[in-house]
Amino acid sequence: EKGGYKHFMQKEIFEQPQALSNTLLNRLPLDGEAIPLDLPFNAQELADLNRIHIVACGTSWHSGLVGKFLIEQLSRVAVEVDYASEYRYREPVIQPGTLIIGITQSGETADTLAAMKEAALRGARTLAVCNVMGSTATRQAEATLMTHAGPEIGVASTKAFTTQLAVLTLLALKLGEAKGTVDPVLKAELLQGLRELPAHLERLNSLEPQIIQWAQRWKDATDFLYLGRGPCYPIALEGALKLKEISYIHAEGYPAGEMKHGPIALIDKTLPVVALMPRDAHREKTLSNLQEAAARDGRILALVTEGDTGLSGIAEDVLELPAVHPWLAPIVYAVPLQLLAYHIAVLRGCDVDQPRNLAKSVTVE
Ligand code: M6R
Repeated sequence: EKGGYKHFMQKEIFEQPQALSNTLLNRLPLDGEAIPLDLPFNAQELADLNRIHIVACGTSWHSGLVGKFLIEQLSRVAVEVDYASEYRYREPVIQPGTLIIGITQSGETADTLAAMKEAALRGARTLAVCNVMGSTATRQAEATLMTHAGPEIGVASTKAFTTQLAVLTLLALKLGEAKGTVDPVLKAELLQGLRELPAHLERLNSLEPQIIQWAQRWKDATDFLYLGRGPCYPIALEGALKLKEISYIHAEGYPAGEMKHGPIALIDKTLPVVALMPRDAHREKTLSNLQEAAARDGRILALVTEGDTGLSGIAEDVLELPAVHPWLAPIVYAVPLQLLAYHIAVLRGCDVDQPRNLAKSVTVE
């Protein structure tokens, strides 16, 4: 059932190219056409939305943060992202024209369901982004966008996450179409980028030996810091969560620009700093943050765009990733971080698929 893999998590990491293809199937339009997204809202209903609240937990909350970035950039609709467990009890202000999006792989997370219900009671329209057909979230919401990742068995979410990001990219483009805010050239670039993503993810497999070396070198570290900016900031959070969850190493994710406001005090030669630095609008800023970390003896493991030599002499090791549109980089950069967490956990002898104290879906408060 694990198809030759040692763990479900490993199998699910490697299934991502296929999971993405399945999720994008029939949802990518031909040149210049509207995105054929299976949503029951018509163009006018979409155009009338003027506020979005995203609620989710854990990894799905991280995809919500990337979703906020994409939706705001492409449709100019203001987006709030909240932990479902907080949202449900904070008497959220729902104005007319508000859509609540609950992102949940399982569709059974108690806090997410309750947060969606709370918003619906206050008059919001409701949409679920979900991986399990017929789950409570899909029955509770007015509309559902399915991720077609296939069953995810490992407790650590992997392919559900990257397919959520793909669906949120399409949703952001769809909203941008309805609002008339999306530049056709940018739209064409992103759609072409999505088409090419499964092939790019296939190519990531060849990086596994280098990631295993990192894992061997750093498996006994007591703490990790993950840094990113813009749409890759949530990927820093996600990388840290993956590591914590399955290897029990303390890890924190931070926006790189926030490092100087506290976490920099932690940096010394024993602290691995995993840096996400795609070639994007944030690159120069991230680079100077990393120079500061290196000046304090931080051990930088960097993920950069193929051919980017800007970190030579600064980073201890550099992983070069395919050049993709910067707004699709989260999908590509998430994968090596999943593999890093996976291999560290295996080397530490942890039960990767059933980490201690965790359940696949959290159906209690
Ligand atoms: O099924 P959901 O997406 O609602 O689950 C949310 C979280 O419980 C889940 O993402 C959790 O954080 C994962 N174990 C992370 O790998």
